[in-house]
Amino acid sequence: MKRHLNEIIQGDTLKVLKTFDSNFIDLGITSPPYNKQEKHKGWLVKNVKYDSYKDVKTEEEYQQEQINVLNEIFRVTKTGGSFFYNHKTRWERGRMIHPMEWLTKTEWTVRQEIVWDRMIAANIRGWRFWQVDERIYWLYKPIKNNKTGKELESKHALLTSIWRFSPVSGKKIHTRRHFLLHCQHG
Ligand SMILES: C[S@@+](CC[C@H](N)C(=O)[O-])C[C@H]1O[C@@H](n2cnc3c(N)ncnc32)[C@H](O)[C@@H]1O
Repeated sequence: MKRHLNEIIQGDTLKVLKTFDSNFIDLGITSPPYNKQEKHKGWLVKNVKYDSYKDVKTEEEYQQEQINVLNEIFRVTKTGGSFFYNHKTRWERGRMIHPMEWLTKTEWTVRQEIVWDRMIAANIRGWRFWQVDERIYWLYKPIKNNKTGKELESKHALLTSIWRFSPVSGKKIHTRRHFLLHCQHG
């Protein structure tokens, strides 16, 4: 099995994932594109630009793509492994879209919804309160006869489900890094 240790791979995430063996990753993390639809961009969104990716899909196509990618990540993750998926609530024609709408259609068990208090709004609209939160989903691939998995060490179990830190300021990071998957090999 190729171990991909300390390797950065640039490419289309779904194509690259399909080349990986199953069950070899302990922990993954990603912040996917949010289907921002450039035409709806609000204040500050101009600071988060991708170099080539347009981020314009129908919501249906977008959600199906997220499901496909998440299911591939599920396949390559070991049982008992976790994936941290950063997303947020979004709006389309005034209706709020919640990430649970597609997360429940994946193979993952959603262990926890962590609220990331970023303390600054990404875009500001007059018809709703300033959205300063994003979400981090702790997704879990359960072990057969132990659905909850290992207990956290007490110093970690004392952490709360609200994480408060500011985002890195955008430009360079979003144009240069495409996809990040941290692997630990046990
Ligand atoms: C919200 S940014 C996350 C940036 C990155 N995780 C980081 O730490 O800076 C989403 C990134 O996904 C890239 N992207 C979009 N579709 C992709 C795909 N199919 N395969 C790989 N990367 C993709 C975009 O170009 C963009 O850089």
